[in-house]
Amino acid sequence: MRQPISHRKGIPFYYPKSALEFQQDMYERYDEIVTRQSLLHNADLLWGGYPFQPVFDFAERHYPQGDNINILEIGCGVGRWIAGLAKRYPDSTCWGIDYSYQMLKRANEFWIAGKEVVLDGSDRGLGQSSIQREQIENLKLGLAKAEDLPFDDNTQNLVVNSFLLDRLEEPRKGLEEMYRVLQVGARLIVVTPLNFKRAQHWELLYPSHKISELLKEIGFTIVDWQEDIHVNEPLDRHGNYLSWKCLGFVVEKI
Ligand SMILES: C[S@@+](CC[C@H](N)C(=O)[O-])C[C@H]1O[C@@H](n2cnc3c(N)ncnc32)[C@H](O)[C@@H]1O
Repeated sequence: MRQPISHRKGIPFYYPKSALEFQQDMYERYDEIVTRQSLLHNADLLWGGYPFQPVFDFAERHYPQGDNINILEIGCGVGRWIAGLAKRYPDSTCWGIDYSYQMLKRANEFWIAGKEVVLDGSDRGLGQSSIQREQIENLKLGLAKAEDLPFDDNTQNLVVNSFLLDRLEEPRKGLEEMYRVLQVGARLIVVTPLNFKRAQHWELLYPSHKISELLKEIGFTIVDWQEDIHVNEPLDRHGNYLSWKCLGFVVEKI
């Protein structure tokens, strides 16, 4: 693995994110986006029901056997999925990579520093709640881009990501990096809405058979494919929600 370029409050940086890049990245907006993500990923503790459970249900049956492996989540946000994997595989090394320092800082508070975090959902009628989280020893976090992962070739036994692929500036490069770091025979699990931000990504990746062609071109073989994973993202206490129709796929490096 590459050495980090710098550290900020315990988070290693593998990408030299500039002040302008910080400013332009909506995922660095602490109160608006990071608090919202924190509320969503603690929804089951706060008001019952976990909105991302359909992601876990899809992924579950494809997890590897055994322990003492390398697991990587890319675009881990506030870290709920990779923290769960780290607990499930206590003898494994689990990395959560994200491009947002603020997301990683929050993930670190939740899952590594074991801090009590106050979440303010008052603007959605959800009030304030405080959550005491955990100190998971086999979980590591780092700032890097999906398109330039700091891991060596053929080192990961499982790579996962959710709600990332359609956010990437270079989705093809991101998938190629996921392929590069996986060991032969190891799997990539992806759940993503098809809600691309750029016209050229709609051309490259839509409809979804173009994604499967791209995956095969990169060198993957398709193991599972599901086009209708529905994730309902709660918006407020009244029960309004955003409904995401997601594509889920599992592919293996051959
Ligand atoms: C919509 S959020 C999803 C977070 C989490 N995976 C989930 O399902 O809730 C997208 C995340 O991807 C991260 N991200 C965006 N572009 C990225 C990139 N090029 N490399 C790594 N992470 C990226 C963002 O910082 C953000 O945390």
